[in-house]
Amino acid sequence: MAGNPKFDVLIIGSGAAGLSLALRLPASLKVAILAKSELEEGSTLYAQGGISAVTDPSDTFESHIADTLDAGAGLNHPDAVRFTIEHAPAAIQWLVDLGIPFTRKAENGEPDTFHLTREGGHSTRRVLHAADATGRAMETTLVSETRKRSNITVFEHHIAIDLITAAKLGQASNRCLGAYVLDIRDHGISTFAARHVVLATGGASKVYLYTSNPDTSSGDGIAMAWRAGCRVANMEFNQFHPTCLYHPQAKSFLVTEAVRGEGGRLLLPDGKPFMDRFDERGNLAPRDIVARAIDHEMKRLGAEYVLLDISHKPAPFIKEHFPNVYARCRELGYDMTLEPIPVVPAAHYTCGGIMTDLDGQTDLPGLFAIGEVACTGLHGANRMASNSLLECLVFGSAAAQKIIDTQDETPAPPALPAWDESRVRDSDEEVVVSHNWDELRRCMWNYVGIVRTNKRLERAWRRVDLLQQEIQEYYSNFTVSSDLIELRNLAQVAALIIRSAQQRKESRGLHFTLDYPVSDNSRQPTDTVLAPQTFQDLQTRKVS
Ligand code: FAD
Ligand code: SIN
Repeated sequence: MAGNPKFDVLIIGSGAAGLSLALRLPASLKVAILAKSELEEGSTLYAQGGISAVTDPSDTFESHIADTLDAGAGLNHPDAVRFTIEHAPAAIQWLVDLGIPFTRKAENGEPDTFHLTREGGHSTRRVLHAADATGRAMETTLVSETRKRSNITVFEHHIAIDLITAAKLGQASNRCLGAYVLDIRDHGISTFAARHVVLATGGASKVYLYTSNPDTSSGDGIAMAWRAGCRVANMEFNQFHPTCLYHPQAKSFLVTEAVRGEGGRLLLPDGKPFMDRFDERGNLAPRDIVARAIDHEMKRLGAEYVLLDISHKPAPFIKEHFPNVYARCRELGYDMTLEPIPVVPAAHYTCGGIMTDLDGQTDLPGLFAIGEVACTGLHGANRMASNSLLECLVFGSAAAQKIIDTQDETPAPPALPAWDESRVRDSDEEVVVSHNWDELRRCMWNYVGIVRTNKRLERAWRRVDLLQQEIQEYYSNFTVSSDLIELRNLAQVAALIIRSAQQRKESRGLHFTLDYPVSDNSRQPTDTVLAPQTFQDLQTRKVS
């Protein structure tokens, strides 16, 4: 679809964040949702363990807050933590009202009580789940509700290229006016205009060679917001999930932390337990600690993986609680009811992102960011398990309310210029794009991974800087494709990660460097904030 469609709200992204926001808007607003692939595809669909909230009478907000702050290693914003956790029960009720089939307690309990599982960092059972496919239950329900709404138009296989701002059009008073969007199937580029634009594009874990994430997680929202002048924060905090199934031929598959929550133990290849040597919480220490311990042991032993063992639990228990993990393991030749399974860490979650306030508003008037793309202050230096889906819902709701409250005073979008393709031609060597993809992701994995050093970061910077220049040249000369758009964004995000990592002269949470191996607790820790105005070298050289 080429042209110039106009909406009240343009939502870029159809995961838990984007769809929950859309469903909270009134029918009087004309809403568009963009998705790069099918509406369902994105990290939300693959979420396993669940969503955290205080629902048990023996649990408290103070306990959930304390655990979140502890996992976040002193960098969380206390107001964002309290705001999210206190709004969690209402978010859960909203999901229950939509019909999400959370697993209920069958044994000894009230028939109407949720079964709560446990994950790393949580001091008690507080994670609601739908067996081991919580994300699928959520996403498919949200999608089916969305499709019923006549005020919402869905654009699948449409990728936003860049945001359109008043400043880019030479106007004095800046705000976000819309976005240029490529229809991936017919290659047409449209100009979407909107009163409010919402980035709900998910994270950037595809910047690493091995990741638990689907292909959609290419950091597009962070890169677009950066190019539009927004600040980003805490990009050095990339979360590596400790337990992805190891199989030389299969794409990374997550083995939920709830396996450890229900008694699973990490073992060395010779069968010896090791987590107690690293943290008194053992197998249920926060993720940064567990991933680093595994990385340490794998390097020490030259091992390709460690083992995760829950085979001491009865087979019916394992099959009932983890039907999808069990099935996937079986497909790859492992039976987790009988034997330990091989696991490795992989890039999983982007804790940093576009800076927002508690309404999801960014630095740019008219532009919101919600979900994994945002840095609200909730996660600090390390996200606690199952706090992410929660953040999507709480901030989706807050941003929707802000849009409703400000709708009347927000100017209607003006006519916007069409995308200019007059100076580009079709590429003569598409293969360059896939070579650069590979080089970038390998470089980030090797030099900007679980353990960093000044030298490795410097090495990574030199390579990524060169890649950015080559990609920009390619982008300036050839017609855009979705692969090229994503590559350009990933390279931008890689640069932001490296620069942030270089600025933090300490180890904290997910950022661990051998050159500064301890946290600097001599003063209050601060966020790593990057602003486009002060980082000219990180700016892309041509803006559409
Ligand atoms: P996503 O769900 O990733 O959706 C992003 C959307 O943006 C997609 O629709 C995509 O097509 C679209 N998009 C991206 N770029 C563009 C563009 N340029 N143009 C148009 N559209 C675009 N968290 C928990 O709290 N509990 C869990 O149990 C849990 N398990 C997880 C298991 C796995 C395997 C993974 C990968 C993550 C898990 N997480 C979990 C993290 C959590 O799932 C994600 O952080 C969360 O779902 C992100 O939701 P989102 O709406 O921000 O983005
Ligand atoms: C998992 O199920 O282990 C993932 C949970 C999360 O990322 O929050």
